[in-house]
Amino acid sequence: MCGIIGYLGERVAAPVLLDSLQRLEYRGYDSAGVVVLGQDGSPMLVKSAGKVDALLQRIDGEELLGRVGMGHTRWATHGRPTYDNAHPHTDCRGQFFVIHNGIIENFAELRRELQAAGHTFTSETDTEVLPHLIEEYYAGDLVAATRRALGRLRGAYAVVVLSSTDPDTLIGARLNAPLVVGVGQKEWFLSSDLTAIIPYTKQALVLGEGQMVVLTPVGPVVTSIVDGTELAPRVVRVEWDVIQAERGGYPNFMSKEMHEQPAALENALRGRLLADGHVEFSDWGADDRLLARFQRVQIVAAGSAFYAGMLAKYAIEDLAGLPTAVEVASEWRYRPQPVDSATLTIAISQSGETADTLAAARLAQERGGFVLGLTNVVGSTLALEADGVINLHAGPEICVVSTKTFVNQVACALLLALRLAQVRQTRDPGDLRELATALRSVADVQRQVLSREQEFVPLGAWLAEHRGALYMGRGYSYPAAMEAALKLKEVSYLHAEAYPAGELKHGPIALLDPEMPVVAFATESATREKTRSNIQEVCARQSPVLAVVSDGDRSLVDDVQFTVEVPRVPEIVSPLVNALVGQLLAYHAAMIRGCDVDRPRNLAKSVTVE
Ligand code: G6P
Repeated sequence: MCGIIGYLGERVAAPVLLDSLQRLEYRGYDSAGVVVLGQDGSPMLVKSAGKVDALLQRIDGEELLGRVGMGHTRWATHGRPTYDNAHPHTDCRGQFFVIHNGIIENFAELRRELQAAGHTFTSETDTEVLPHLIEEYYAGDLVAATRRALGRLRGAYAVVVLSSTDPDTLIGARLNAPLVVGVGQKEWFLSSDLTAIIPYTKQALVLGEGQMVVLTPVGPVVTSIVDGTELAPRVVRVEWDVIQAERGGYPNFMSKEMHEQPAALENALRGRLLADGHVEFSDWGADDRLLARFQRVQIVAAGSAFYAGMLAKYAIEDLAGLPTAVEVASEWRYRPQPVDSATLTIAISQSGETADTLAAARLAQERGGFVLGLTNVVGSTLALEADGVINLHAGPEICVVSTKTFVNQVACALLLALRLAQVRQTRDPGDLRELATALRSVADVQRQVLSREQEFVPLGAWLAEHRGALYMGRGYSYPAAMEAALKLKEVSYLHAEAYPAGELKHGPIALLDPEMPVVAFATESATREKTRSNIQEVCARQSPVLAVVSDGDRSLVDDVQFTVEVPRVPEIVSPLVNALVGQLLAYHAAMIRGCDVDRPRNLAKSVTVE
């Protein structure tokens, strides 16, 4: 979850590092630091608690000249977000520097061992054991000492090591945490994330688990950490461009990414949803025989991706008639699970790096299951390890919370459900064609909703007047309500809870009073009348209601406080529109409350620890 950047090349390293840290801040932002080696190998280290801006202020005026260096933004796991706990960490003599993402599980015993050997620690972090271990093992060969030190670690790590003993060398290594090597013209980058390096290069080597890379001016050498065997790394080309990863006139990334949804959705459908309604996945190349083999589906995911997974379940069961289970990956991975070669396991993850989702996917593979990854990041661990991949094609998403990637997760899941239905011939081809047409029209519907964004400003302000809100919906609007409630929690820090509308009377109805606003998704659906009755029940308890309804539906205006009308679409595609409504409400509630929507407190975009 921490952001990592390393640089070795012919430019002055510091501006590259600081620029990249700003780009990486969504991975963690409770402290930051950089270290650069001068020509003579002398290290210059600057750290700061707080966001990258605080680091920039600290550096202001300092001359950080040097062509090798590394930087880190932290999301705390061990030790509070203080100056001392900020990375880079170093050894007793300040020779070896390490930045780290992940968790070193056996750090306490290593720390005791190193302290007994005379090492002095200055932080509470697990990371600090690594530079001290390297110091302990160093006998003139930095690579050998690093390899030996890494061999002592248990847990998960992506690390970058730099030392004043070898000013022309930068070492990276990974185990259960992402690390990519950007390859430029006589310059190399090490990063936890492709978005940090796209302004500099589109070419990247993806390190595999248990691999180490040694960068020197003659180029990268990739080896196995365990035995030093030289390996040929996978090369990926990144199609994203810099403009996509910048704010481009929007007040923040959340706003920009909400507005990018129609185009992102069109990208997800392009080349996949053919004119005759047929679905093809050129990136996956799944053939009909493979798809026909599956008898059941298991979906694993976390956060927003889990709600996309719920919608995937609904659509796959509806259209293809395949029994589908969905569970949060952190739970599923610790329960004995029936998976076999007839089970299609779908791992949904924007980043492709969520530790629990990866672990669940690996478990499914070990049990003989086929794993299909739905991810937005080419070269992510999920993309590399899965048996098949559907790329979300949403472009880089920088805001910590998912917006356009959620929509594309749902859209890709709908495409998959359509394809399964076509192969299994479970639905009338005419119905499927109609659905395909509806899916194609959603981007324009989203554009219409976005063009009315001003309507959401007072509605967000109204939500912000309360301590929290209840969300409700039925059918496809239930997972959509859950995602909308999550958005409100994440960006505005207001409490929000989502319930199936029919479940409200089994408990949460006790919460209703004039102080408890309810957001009800009541757009066109098979159960709209039922939802309407549930809304009446809420109104009878005097809770103010904001009802999201289909265009022209005036049936609730006399009962509820507010209605938001959205264009009429078939129920199955309605979450692609309702998700946007939920985002706009959350966004404007957060803006009124003065929250940092791009970097909400305590969250990180990519959760690479369990
Ligand atoms: C974090 C983010 C969420 C995201 C979840 C899953 O918790 O804050 O916005 O939905 O991780 O991320 P993934 O990359 O696996 O989709």
